[in-house]
Amino acid sequence: MRFLPVNQLREGMILGQELQDASGRMLLEKNTRLSKDNISYISFLEVTGLYIADDFSKDVEIKEIIKPEVKKSALSLISTLFGNPSGEGSPEEEELKENVHRVVEDVLNNRDVAYNLMEVRTYDDYTYFHSVNVGVLSGVLGLQCGLTDDELEELVMAGFLHDIGKVFIDPTIINAPRRLTEEEHVRMMDHPAEGYNFLRDNFDFSENVLMGVYEHHEWYDGGGYPCKKEGKEISKFARIIKAADVYDAMTSKRSYHEPYLPSDVLEYIMGRSGMEFDPKVVKTMVQELCVYPVGCEVELSNGERALVVENHRGYSLRPTVKLMSTGEVIDLTGDRSSWNITIVKLLV
Ligand SMILES: [Fe+2]
Repeated sequence: MRFLPVNQLREGMILGQELQDASGRMLLEKNTRLSKDNISYISFLEVTGLYIADDFSKDVEIKEIIKPEVKKSALSLISTLFGNPSGEGSPEEEELKENVHRVVEDVLNNRDVAYNLMEVRTYDDYTYFHSVNVGVLSGVLGLQCGLTDDELEELVMAGFLHDIGKVFIDPTIINAPRRLTEEEHVRMMDHPAEGYNFLRDNFDFSENVLMGVYEHHEWYDGGGYPCKKEGKEISKFARIIKAADVYDAMTSKRSYHEPYLPSDVLEYIMGRSGMEFDPKVVKTMVQELCVYPVGCEVELSNGERALVVENHRGYSLRPTVKLMSTGEVIDLTGDRSSWNITIVKLLV
């Protein structure tokens, strides 16, 4: 399978992965041969790209840290909760905890799997995908930061719920495709406290979960909100969620920006280490996150184009690639002859 941006999709291509929305509704089935109408529909949904099955990429395996069914149930729980926070049919605490437990199990079992794939998600379901991703990425970072299994469960829960307070803010502010006015911005900054209050009043979560939500916009240098806490005054849960939140938001398509490349976002986060972000979390992030997702095309310094076929944890700039011209597979970490080849660009 390989990932192709929407503008490179052509009629007759075969869909390598089903396309669903956050509530689990099937939009296009796996193995669909794309028609012109399918492609217009995909563009309308503002999906950034899709996985396509073809001969060249048939050996490329896209490994996910959490199982698709675990992710699917997480998305469904989160979309129900955010859609109707304390109403009928809203998930119970036990259901959320059970799902978080399965996420942490997968994170622990897949510690060798590199975090990064090009996610196929619909634009309108951003909040749900974002919440689940922040939970999973926080779990991956928390594991490497030495958190216990119990702490990881609290951290993933806080990651899932970090923005729940936004459901209490006027949607015209949340979805405004423009710069917010001063007054709107001040209201927007209430969402961590709104989330904290809602969770405290309706659930029995630990203080760690609550503080992870309440402090996820605090900055390491004291420049954040709501309390302008700094350094280790901010809970370690919130310091991890803060970095995961920014990483996922910047690599996603939003009304006010196209997705930034993973490498650009990592550079941004590294540049703000010690200011916006906890330096220890930044260091972990740089070690854990791969810059070139498997299944994506890249341009090499020798002018060739290649497909990323495998990532190596800890060597985020040097994956194994397959040359588009000859099909030759080169391990940029291990092959001696390739030391002078670098990747110059991710083509998505
Ligand atoms: Fe937030």
